[in-house]
Amino acid sequence: TDSYAVIGNPVEHSLSPWIHNAFAQQTGEDIAYEKLTAPRDSFESVARRFLAAGGRGLNVTVPFKLDAYDFADRLTERARAAGAVNTLALQRDGGMLGDNTDGAGLVADIRENLAWPIAGQRILIVGAGGAARGALLPLLEQQPLRVHIANRTAARAERLAREFARQGTLTGGGFEGLSEPFDLIINASSASLSGDLPPLSERLVTPSSHVYDMVYGAEPTPFMAWAAAFGAATSDGLGMLVGQAAESFMLWRGVRPETGPVLRELRVQLQ
Ligand code: ATR
Repeated sequence: TDSYAVIGNPVEHSLSPWIHNAFAQQTGEDIAYEKLTAPRDSFESVARRFLAAGGRGLNVTVPFKLDAYDFADRLTERARAAGAVNTLALQRDGGMLGDNTDGAGLVADIRENLAWPIAGQRILIVGAGGAARGALLPLLEQQPLRVHIANRTAARAERLAREFARQGTLTGGGFEGLSEPFDLIINASSASLSGDLPPLSERLVTPSSHVYDMVYGAEPTPFMAWAAAFGAATSDGLGMLVGQAAESFMLWRGVRPETGPVLRELRVQLQ
């Protein structure tokens, strides 16, 4: 049995053990998966202890994704672009690979579970923090028509857009003055976590828009409710959570689990 864990603080309510156990059952992989709470200043010592005891890999969650970035010996291109690591994998030579599967999990959920198009679409990303940054490269790889980043702090969105400008047609700005419709709107801000709704024009949404909130829960988020009121199709981010886990599982085990059945069962459990 190879052992893995999710490390975070807090981590008690993490759904990752449930998801990875479901993947293991589905694929017949023999793994154990536990939760590791680390004090805020002790990521490295807790991670090293787990690895010294035979651990093969870690999922990394809040607030340790930057610590994990520094901890890794090697980084994948998407981890470098995200500036954060959510998956650590022990390599054959003893080195530690740092990856970021969040953006790929988002794209997989949108394409495979929701069957929403990305290629050729006008995309709006709301928010310019770590979650938005992690989604950019995987989204741009799907060849959207263009991507606009809108953020409460306009300068942060403009900076992020400039940084990835070579990868596609990308612009950034504030919430004001933004009024043309988008095909795909992704809320990567943490506004929903505090029950807030960013002040966006209703002209951004049409009945043919697809609207995704990276936050998930038993109830639709304020952002989803706002978009649904204008007839848009909406989704929360539970499928992204399952999708990023599937990408991590693939990195560790070389087998890609099917996310659909796991997502459906998880949805039932959350109700
Ligand atoms: P994360 O890693 O979740 O992206 P972060 O880097 O702290 O976390 O970024 C949080 C994002 O949510 C930012 O884009 C933030 O906007 P600012 O850059 O203006 O701070 C956005 N955000 C947080 N609360 C918000 C709110 N109530 N309304 C709108 N945007 C909000």
